[in-house]
Amino acid sequence: MVKHLLISAGLLLLSACASSGQTAYARLGGMPALYAVTDNFITLIEHEPRILKYFKGVDIAEFRRHFAIQLCMETGGPCEYTGRTMQDAHAMMNITEADFNLTVELLIKAGEQAGLATSEINYLLMKLATMRKDMLYK
Ligand code: HEM
Repeated sequence: MVKHLLISAGLLLLSACASSGQTAYARLGGMPALYAVTDNFITLIEHEPRILKYFKGVDIAEFRRHFAIQLCMETGGPCEYTGRTMQDAHAMMNITEADFNLTVELLIKAGEQAGLATSEINYLLMKLATMRKDMLYK
């Protein structure tokens, strides 16, 4: 709990530092960069059995498109997300906190592999952290 509070406080601070006139979407490198992050993320998931098991039978092309568009929207880009809400998409999956955290680690690695600056990765995580409660098994 304390760890989460510290991480959240750190992320808020970093996001304040990262803010400038430009949208995060532009700073990150637009859609090509977000698709690079998404593709790395999918590859990492494919190599992580603990997370891959949740994706049995999932249309990966559709997931890829929706995930990248969601990143675009969350970073202030010119996209409109048309996928399901995070609550609906992740309902019934019974995602554990440990698996959620592991997924976030994969996403951090995907951002690093795509060459994103640490401050931009932290900005993304801060945006996505607000959705955490919608995805976890309650
Ligand atoms: C980092 C936070 C996360 C974000 C931003 C996120 C985002 C998304 C998005 C945008 C979709 C597409 C929804 C749609 O097509 O309507 C999706 C689907 C999915 N997510 Fe997540 N997700 C996150 C965490 C997780 C975690 C932790 C897991 C499992 C461990 C997971 C497993 C899945 C699966 C299996 C689908 C496909 C569902 C289906 O097509 O039936 N996600 N997610």
